Amino acid sequence: MTTDDAVPSGQPVTHVPVLADEVMAMLAPAAGSRQVDATLGGGGHAERIIEATDPDGRLLGLDADEAAIARVRARLGPRFGDRLRLRQANFRELATVAPEEGFDAVDGCLFDLGLSSFQLADAERGFGIRTGGPLDMRFDASRGVPAFELLATLDQDELTALFRRYGEEPFAGRIARGIVESRRSAPIRTAEELAALVARVAPGRAPGRRRVHPATRVFQALRIAVNEELDALEAGLAAAVDLLRPGGRLVVLSYHSLEDRIVKRFLQAERRGCTCPPEVPVCVCGREPRLRLLAPKGLVPSAAEIVANPRARSARLRAAERMAA
Ligand SMILES: C[S@@+](CC[C@H](N)C(=O)[O-])C[C@H]1O[C@@H](n2cnc3c(N)ncnc32)[C@H](O)[C@@H]1O
Repeated sequence: MTTDDAVPSGQPVTHVPVLADEVMAMLAPAAGSRQVDATLGGGGHAERIIEATDPDGRLLGLDADEAAIARVRARLGPRFGDRLRLRQANFRELATVAPEEGFDAVDGCLFDLGLSSFQLADAERGFGIRTGGPLDMRFDASRGVPAFELLATLDQDELTALFRRYGEEPFAGRIARGIVESRRSAPIRTAEELAALVARVAPGRAPGRRRVHPATRVFQALRIAVNEELDALEAGLAAAVDLLRPGGRLVVLSYHSLEDRIVKRFLQAERRGCTCPPEVPVCVCGREPRLRLLAPKGLVPSAAEIVANPRARSARLRAAERMAA
């Protein structure tokens, strides 16, 4: 989902799992298997996965956000007991966290990237353009630097680079200049202030995307930078492949092109194995292929799913199977 999705007001917040049937088909969790959900969120996918491992399969659920862990523990803990292990951790630490929790080798691992509806709806966290609130944006509020601090301390060139790199924002320079000028009189501390500033200095919208708020790319860029999301993704994917048993499945849902590019390149490199340059006549790196791609072009939601859950609209699922060593 994107940061300019609206949160329906007056209704209890829920997070509808995206491409849920396709995730289950690709992950194919068997009875008794060991599974990892690296991005627990509201536990929607995790619940379906652990049910499919009945009667004695186990699932390790991670989330960087302690509120997600507490919510899923309260909802699913009583039902699944010690079949469900939950741990507040960044998935970049999967290589150490999984063995610590007794998951040395696993049959499946899911990454459903980005943020949940609960986070988007939380006006204390500043994720949502339309939700507002203090510009924090950390998944783990106990670590790292909140977004308002980046806006206060990065210089104009650094802000421009951040919006270009993580938001592919065409008006990056203009927006960075606007921020630096504005903070001379008062710091930018809330999502409302940032959204209004971007709308003022760079009101242009991409053709055909009239309903998308002009600050969408800026919010995406800040969130990626605050949480170092792309570095974490590379580390998490590498750790997941190391953990998978032969025949084990890796499934990743991404929501924008920067994430999807990393996932696609990672899977292709693991499918190829050898990383020698094409001009080298005989392989010298010795790397063997480790993954077989399932659905090589990826899967996207149906029109019906997008109508039922508009936050699914930018999702792309990629999946692969670990080959015998
Ligand atoms: C889209 S939600 C997952 C929703 C979940 N699949 C469900 O069905 O409810 C993404 C979750 O991943 C978490 N997250 C994002 N990056 C993370 C990281 N590097 N490590 C751990 N959790 C992360 C977020 O805090 C958020 O709760």
